[in-house]
Formats: sequence, structure tokens, C-alpha cells
Amino acid sequence: MTEYKIALVGFGGVNRGLAQLIVERNAAWQTELGFSLKIVGVSDLFLGSICDPTGLDAAHLVALPPVKGAFAQLAGGSAEAFNETVIKHSRADIIAEATFTNPVDGEPAATFCRWALEAGKHVVTTNKGPIALHGPELSQLAKANGVSFEYEGAVMSGTPVLRLARQSLSGAGVRGFEGILNGTSNYVLTRMEEGLSFAEAVAKAQELGYAEADPTADVEGHDVRLKVVILANELLNARLQVGDVTCSGISSISTADIGQVRASGARWKLIGSAHREGDGSVRASVEACLLPSSHPLVGISGATNAVSFNTELLGAVTVSGPGAGRIETAFALLSDIIAIHAANH
Ligand code: HSE
Repeated sequence: MTEYKIALVGFGGVNRGLAQLIVERNAAWQTELGFSLKIVGVSDLFLGSICDPTGLDAAHLVALPPVKGAFAQLAGGSAEAFNETVIKHSRADIIAEATFTNPVDGEPAATFCRWALEAGKHVVTTNKGPIALHGPELSQLAKANGVSFEYEGAVMSGTPVLRLARQSLSGAGVRGFEGILNGTSNYVLTRMEEGLSFAEAVAKAQELGYAEADPTADVEGHDVRLKVVILANELLNARLQVGDVTCSGISSISTADIGQVRASGARWKLIGSAHREGDGSVRASVEACLLPSSHPLVGISGATNAVSFNTELLGAVTVSGPGAGRIETAFALLSDIIAIHAANH
């Protein structure tokens, strides 16, 4: 029986969700998946840090109140976030990185990933910043150190997209994709169809926890742009940088614009897309598009995400599911660990 020692970097919703899954399902995973997980370290800029190579009680971690320096309440814990110690010296086999997304330089998450990979530890992450801005470099670093770097949750949380396309669509000739890759903006457009104003719909999305604290990245397309870069680089072997993707959002669309087309079955959607051109280059964009009623993404409503791959052999292949959420994103980390386990057995 394999037991992976895991350290959690960032202990907000996602890694707390993973700890909760460990509490509820670790015993079943031994039978179902052939491994179990033991948490040996946790660090969080707000909560502090704690390490124990013999294993921390996941239930105690989950129950910890989200107050500043909370890890100091546990024996051996500290109010200070000793990230480097937790990553390099907690004896973890796997680092689960789930700190905040920094769309400018991917830091500090990119450094956390580098520390882990250089120390010979596998990394699983849900963080879009390091992947969109430093993905090829980090994958190369993992290869050079004989470990895995997995990031399924960076696009559409636990809904299988990256690994599915990489594995099951290889050979089908993926020529491009179109996706609804931001739950907040799709929720806002759906509620505007029901008559809410843009501002009312954004406030509702914030209440429901879909939107970021500052929803600008959601409604202006910046969040989708990172996901488009990740998908295009992964599936089309593009070498796109964030600035290569033209980007606009949904804030200029009014309730009247939406009402005018409603009867025809056409719907406004924020679409992130990339396609290989005849000359081999890849063109990518994020923009609000008026989809006809026959389009594979037209029926995707509310906070649901979907991506439709355009393939040579199968035509359009469309996957839909949650694109955010605590447990949904924690599941993506588990799916990455399952992939690491499969690669090593
Ligand atoms: N705020 C994002 C969304 C979360 O609404 O989809 C996932 O990246």
C-alpha cells in the first residue's frame, strides 16, 4: 500500500477542501485508488505554518478557524508562514500549491513550485499564474528533476479538460477550441437574460462566491485569458504569452442588447478561443460573442463552464461541468495525484 506524504501550500478553500476529502475518504482511497495521503506540512500567508513528518490530523486542520496566525494554536505550529521549510524540509513527496493567482508574474506561487521541483518533489497546483506565465519552464524543471508537475485544476477546476484532451484527443487532430471558461461572467449574462442589471448580477455572483473579491478579472476577460494561454500552449503547442491574446469582457453588454436577441435563441457569451491558422500560427482571443442557437456552447447557463474542441477526426467534442468551487477544485488536485500514482506504478 502506498502512502504519499503531502504538504499543503496555501490553506484557503481549495487545500482546506483537499484536507476535508482526506478526512472523509482516505480509507476508501486505499481500496479504490491504491494509495492514501498523509499531511506532513501546511503553510499559509495568513494562518501561519506547521510541520510534522509523522502526520498532522486532517480533521484538526479542517476545523481550524480562519483567523490570523491560527496555526500557532496547534502544538508545534507557528503564526509565521515558513513556506520554504514546509516545501523543502517537511519530508513531503508531493506539494499541493493552492495560493492566490497573481496574473502579473505568477509569484510567489512560481517560486514555491520551483523550490519543490528542485527539491525533487512532485507538484500539483490549481494556480493559473505559474502555469500561464511559466508553464513550459516549470514542466522542464520537473522533467530535469525526475518528478511530475500537474495542474488539471487551472482550467475548469475538477472537470476533466487538460488531461482528457492531452490523452484521449491526442491523434484526433485538435485544431482549436472555444470555451466558456469563467463562471462569474456566464452567471452574470444568464441573470441579465432574466432582467437583472449588470451591477445587480455581479453583486449576486459575489454573494454566491463565484466572483473574485475584485470581479474585474472575471468580467473583463483577464481570468479567461490566462486559461486560454494554458489550453493553447498545452493542446496546440502554441508558445503564447498573455499579451498575445486579445482580450475584452462583458461590461459593455447591456440588458437591452441581451433582450433584443433572446427570442431568436441566440445568446451572448464570453468566449475564450484559440485556433491554428493555415500558416501554423495560433490566434487566440477573449471576447463577448453572439452565439447562434445551433452552437454547442449556447445552452451553457449559470456558473457552469464548457469547452468545445474542434478536432479533425471527431468534429466538435464538448465537455461541460463546474469551473470553480472548493471541493470541485480540490478534486482536481486529487486527479493530479492519481496521475502521479499511475505514472509511478
Ligand atoms: N472567479 C472564477 C470564475 C473562478 O468565476 O470562474 C475560477 O477561476
